[in-house]
Amino acid sequence: MGDAWPEVVEKVAASEKYRPAFDELFGGDVSVETITEAIAEFERTLVTPNAPFDKYLKGDKTALTEEEKRGALLFAEVGCTSCHSGAYFGGENYQKIAESYFADRGGEIQEADLGRYNVTGNDAHMHMFKTPILRNVEVTWPYFHDGSAPDLKTAVETMAEHQLGLELPEADATAITAFLQTLTGEYQGQPLDEMSAN
Ligand code: HEC
Repeated sequence: MGDAWPEVVEKVAASEKYRPAFDELFGGDVSVETITEAIAEFERTLVTPNAPFDKYLKGDKTALTEEEKRGALLFAEVGCTSCHSGAYFGGENYQKIAESYFADRGGEIQEADLGRYNVTGNDAHMHMFKTPILRNVEVTWPYFHDGSAPDLKTAVETMAEHQLGLELPEADATAITAFLQTLTGEYQGQPLDEMSAN
């Protein structure tokens, strides 16, 4: 939250929704420390099981459509898994975003575009980003560090083009998108996609 902390503290302290909880749990202490602790506690509850893809792996063969299955195979075949690996389909490595991505996007290179370089100052980390986890990706638009892709299919096509040098046929991009939508789980017993629609 960078420079916004004073404003965040002020808003939480004045909030009818959060203030009573801070009074009860932290003796009225609304500060960077207590807000950070509250967010960390919240994040520990962010477990989202029962995605259709998980149900399929557990043996429910009806959990995925033919197109979603085709998308899952394509996701591996075209090479998305070389970066988006493991049970979370990401979160395991840092990867460079191709120069062609920035050229195509247009606009000035911003500080955020430098990626991991901002943290380490090491030239080898220029434009490197943590490969994001793709679980629940359906409900976390817009995509990429700069929010430049407004919807999931655009993000899939952009990845194929710039990270793999591939122009995906329309039907394949649609199938991979359909597969990624099967990674949306449930939060506290409620489907996440329905919650975010409210
Ligand atoms: C060379 C590594 C690499 C490959 C290959 C790759 N990705 Fe990515 N992917 C990344 C990185 C790094 C990011 C983060 C980019 C950013 O934030 O600017 C990303 C971001 C994404 C996002 C956006 C996630 C978000 O929350 O913003 C989606 C969706 C995605 N990739 C899907 C795919 C698909 C589908 C493929 C295969 C067609 C693929 N990726 C291939 C490394 C890769």
